[in-house]
Amino acid sequence: AKKIILDCDPGHDDAIALMMAVASPKIELLAVTSSAGNQTPDKTLNNVLRMLTLLGRTDIPVAAGNQKPLMQGLQIADDVHGKTGLDGATLPEPGFKPEPIPAVELIAKTLRASEEPVTLVVTGPMTNAALFLAVHPELKEKIDQIVFMGGAMSLGNWAPSVEFNMYVDPEAAKMVVDSGLPLVMAGLDVTHKAQILAEDVEVFRKMGNPVADAMTGLLDFYNIYYSQPKWGFEGTPVHDPCTIAWLIDPSMFETTKCNVDVETTGKLTRGETLVDYYDLTGKPANAEVLLGIDRKKFVSLITECMHQFDA
Ligand code: BDR
Ligand code: CA
Repeated sequence: AKKIILDCDPGHDDAIALMMAVASPKIELLAVTSSAGNQTPDKTLNNVLRMLTLLGRTDIPVAAGNQKPLMQGLQIADDVHGKTGLDGATLPEPGFKPEPIPAVELIAKTLRASEEPVTLVVTGPMTNAALFLAVHPELKEKIDQIVFMGGAMSLGNWAPSVEFNMYVDPEAAKMVVDSGLPLVMAGLDVTHKAQILAEDVEVFRKMGNPVADAMTGLLDFYNIYYSQPKWGFEGTPVHDPCTIAWLIDPSMFETTKCNVDVETTGKLTRGETLVDYYDLTGKPANAEVLLGIDRKKFVSLITECMHQFDA
């Protein structure tokens, strides 16, 4: 199984990614760290603990991430994810406590303890990943790749050309893309195609296991935001699970390898990702960028993962 550390800000789609990482026999989830993003850091941490309690994995070490982005105040997405960050589901109270060390140190400890290289999966703003790389350069070689949800080759979802995770912490994103580590980018180009349709949710609703029930509640709530006509989506795009799906079955994706950079100074474009599809800069390809997905395979994988929690 692929060893991973998941840094996330649950968040509805983060919660689905977490469920998949726990469920899949192809993934070994070594640790989870929370980031400030979709909701305040206290709430995203609590949501990680509640989700792992629901999933029956209170043995997985969890640590709290940085309180805010590196260079600016925190922008949350409560209009998408609600007051708790995971509105819509009835979740258990946390059945365990986070480690008494910050996210950066839990990542370091986990890497030191692993004989094999570990994949860092980031599904929120990149604050913790950037801090980790700055504080522990000696452990960089223990990370085999960083798989992240963020950015886009075209369009944005928070500013016209800027995706939310990049918008929240552009400097952190810049540090990560410049790190020299191999990157896999699941941006809006692919995640907007990774939609769960109403008919898929009905399948989940009938499954009758507690995890599927929680997922159904989350998807019902998440769909309120994404069913606004302005988006023009048929279903609900679930961004973050694309990272885990890539690690489980890359064959469902179309990708391109190219250079990815992040704008940090643009007045209107701070946080925009520059995906050099046509190699106009001649800069080395630092990322595999996911562009297309076999939606049916993606939904089947999520369904299969949820079935792991059947009685
Ligand atoms: C990203 O922002 C958050 O709302 C989601 O959890 C996802 O990580 C999509 O832009
Ligand atoms: Ca997220």
